Amino acid sequence: MATPLNFDFVVIGSGVAGLHFALRVAEHGSVAIVTKKRAAESATNYAQGGIAAVMDTADSFDAHVKDTLYAGAGLCDEAVVKHVVESGPRAIQNLLKWGVNFDRSEKAGAEAFDYDLGREGGHSKRRILHHRDSTGREIEQSLLQRIANHPRIALYEDHSAIDLLTTHRSGRSGENRCLGTYALDSATGEVDLFLASVTLLASGGAGKVYLYTSNPDIASGDGIAMAYRAGATIANMEFMQFHPTCLFHPNSKSFLISEAVRGEGGILRNRQGEPFMSQSHEMGDLAPRDIVARAIDDELKRSGEDYVTLDITHQDSDFVRRRFPNIDSHCLQFGIDMTREPIPVVPAAHYCCGGVRTNLKGETDLPNLFAAGEVASTGLHGANRLASNSLLEALVFADAAAEEAIGRMSDQEPVGSVPEWHHGEVRESPEAVVITQNWDEIRRFMWNYVGIVRSNGRLARAHHRIDMLQEEINQYYWNFRITSPLLELRNLATVAELIIRAAEYRLESRGLHYNLDYPARDDVNFRANTLLRQGVPTRKDSPE
Ligand code: SIN
Repeated sequence: MATPLNFDFVVIGSGVAGLHFALRVAEHGSVAIVTKKRAAESATNYAQGGIAAVMDTADSFDAHVKDTLYAGAGLCDEAVVKHVVESGPRAIQNLLKWGVNFDRSEKAGAEAFDYDLGREGGHSKRRILHHRDSTGREIEQSLLQRIANHPRIALYEDHSAIDLLTTHRSGRSGENRCLGTYALDSATGEVDLFLASVTLLASGGAGKVYLYTSNPDIASGDGIAMAYRAGATIANMEFMQFHPTCLFHPNSKSFLISEAVRGEGGILRNRQGEPFMSQSHEMGDLAPRDIVARAIDDELKRSGEDYVTLDITHQDSDFVRRRFPNIDSHCLQFGIDMTREPIPVVPAAHYCCGGVRTNLKGETDLPNLFAAGEVASTGLHGANRLASNSLLEALVFADAAAEEAIGRMSDQEPVGSVPEWHHGEVRESPEAVVITQNWDEIRRFMWNYVGIVRSNGRLARAHHRIDMLQEEINQYYWNFRITSPLLELRNLATVAELIIRAAEYRLESRGLHYNLDYPARDDVNFRANTLLRQGVPTRKDSPE
């Protein structure tokens, strides 16, 4: 094993939460960013819509809070919602400081806030700051530029975190606390040990647990699975958000058609060309995402068609091309001119509203482990995330975590001696096909049995399958040399298990969790978060 690498802070993941935290804490100590591919390959980089914040006098904190609570279907933590919404303008100022550019309004007579504010589902006002339709890329690139050549930040690309190192894992008794992480260097096949007094999980979500997803390949739920194995509490995993509109084309992988297209007047139509959203919700095409995704699913199941369409052909084509250059050029590659013809779309797994449970400071219940971004469950999203609230959440919690971590620097206990990583008596895997086969199997049954519409029978079938696969994957994990795909498969299986268990526990329908056997919301028994912790039966708490 290589010599342990000592830092003041270790960050796992290189999206907006990890980079923002790193930049903040680097003013006070040394930082390692451990990321499993190239640094820019994060979910942030693919975020099209933008960042929701109250930046206009026609808007108010109260309205943003109300929209978030409504989307969250009774499970948001109201104190967290208020805190995040009220921190919005400051978070935007931070991004401007880091050099991020947001589109300005073209309206004549620029006012104090002349940003071009977009609208998305569930928002009662225009409040989405955006950089055309590639806001995430703009933010990611601006932060990476600040990180590059930073004297106190070391970037470890192609390093897959394997497991968190805790005091219990290193054989010590007393309170369990996090000491850092083991990570596989894909270039050398060696395992490095990163030690720090504070570890931030910022490793993103878990969309790859489903067959169809808008997420990049990295989204295998690594942080959630590692935190669970290390003993932290995981919350609300049943609430996986399906984005209503991903491009339907056999050769296009994971491509989102931003909700901002509906914000600019796009209309969902069935294959007969009829609009159908007004029958499902008073906000029509701009209803919260769970409602739109279920309406599309229902439409597809009833008609037997493969897709519905999203039509923005009635808008001025120059405007559409200017506002959505990324979507326009991607569609054109597949022979679809969005200014002249409706875009074929289907729902796909998009955002994990559950994750590692944190408090307002971004602390998990495993001391010295913080979490921010999609990996975390902070209480903001409840049972359904309001569009474009997540970049805001990532920034607010990364900032709070940084503040807390800096304040604790002087009273940290030394890490002490730690165990080496043992490869054991493992050999090279003779059949990589076992990994792809299991991966495909998980993604398919999760889509069919634990997707937009669930039932007791479907969940029981999924549970049975994940138990069998977990056994096989564990055997494989302990007998063969670890590789990045094997680590991802193991994490994906853990996350699938957590989603299934949480979905089975919630005997009602709420927000993103819809069970045909319990179609109604049950506020008496289930207005509570679902909590999962290794070795403890699934339980619930109250959101407030
Ligand atoms: C979108 O652009 O539709 C995605 C925005 C989000 O998921 O918040």
